[in-house]
Amino acid sequence: MQVIDEPSAIQRRCESLRREGKTIGLVPTMGAFHEGHLSLMRRARADNDIVVVSIFVNPIQFGLGEDFDSYPRDVHGDLAQSERAGVDLAFAPPIEAIYPKGFQTYVDVTELTEGLCGASRPGHFRGVTTVVAKLFNLIRPNQAYFGQKDYQQSMVVRRLTADLNFDLDIVVLPTVREADGLAMSSRNVRLTPPQRRAASVLYASLSRAEERVKIGERSAKTIVDAVRAMIEGEPLARIDYVALCHPETLQPLDRIDGPTLLALAVRFGETRLIDNRIITPA
Ligand code: PAF
Repeated sequence: MQVIDEPSAIQRRCESLRREGKTIGLVPTMGAFHEGHLSLMRRARADNDIVVVSIFVNPIQFGLGEDFDSYPRDVHGDLAQSERAGVDLAFAPPIEAIYPKGFQTYVDVTELTEGLCGASRPGHFRGVTTVVAKLFNLIRPNQAYFGQKDYQQSMVVRRLTADLNFDLDIVVLPTVREADGLAMSSRNVRLTPPQRRAASVLYASLSRAEERVKIGERSAKTIVDAVRAMIEGEPLARIDYVALCHPETLQPLDRIDGPTLLALAVRFGETRLIDNRIITPA
């Protein structure tokens, strides 16, 4: 595996691979790998001639007072895991290589970023779409891989890709979970043991909501209230949002008449976790 930290060097390397007729799969990450990242790499490995992983904790997608400084980092461990997962190129640039002095161009997807995490984290998606657009331009992958845990992000990146005519497929893979259902996240390592136990309420509440819809409940308010009540029963949890939305427009829904996104964000101490499920009435 080759490790590259210069944008112009990864651009040249990928250009030369494309000229040789190789297909390129990109897994964009902020590092601190877990099984979810590895599942994206394995799929990229199976689908493409060349797998590129980017490891970059992107400062502009963190708001003031958010956890940029404390975001888990383990570049050496990540590189070792990437190599074992069969990655060909790891792109791990320093911040000033991605945002050099004078940088002032941003990419903004509008409506899809208004609700859910966009409402509680102003500017977050602008940071995501700006760095993802830069990665797509540098690497020009045939396919790029994202996890369903960040459902809104995956929809926003699909929109970005279509709107800016990036010639690539976005592949979204299922959330990988711990034994008790907690969605794997780099931030999970920051949970204290009691918070970690409490966090299993997220999966349990999504599952309970799905059961209620399957047995006939159609009112979004009833489901959201039930999810909220279950999470609020856990003293260490503080709800940021619980929402039922259209799975493509992400607009809030009153009734569950077809596939519906149930999405939530909840804090345990300083750690904010997200999860979601597409619920389809029986
Ligand atoms: O999902 C993430 O890890 C990040 O938001 C991404 C897509 C790598 C952009 O920084």
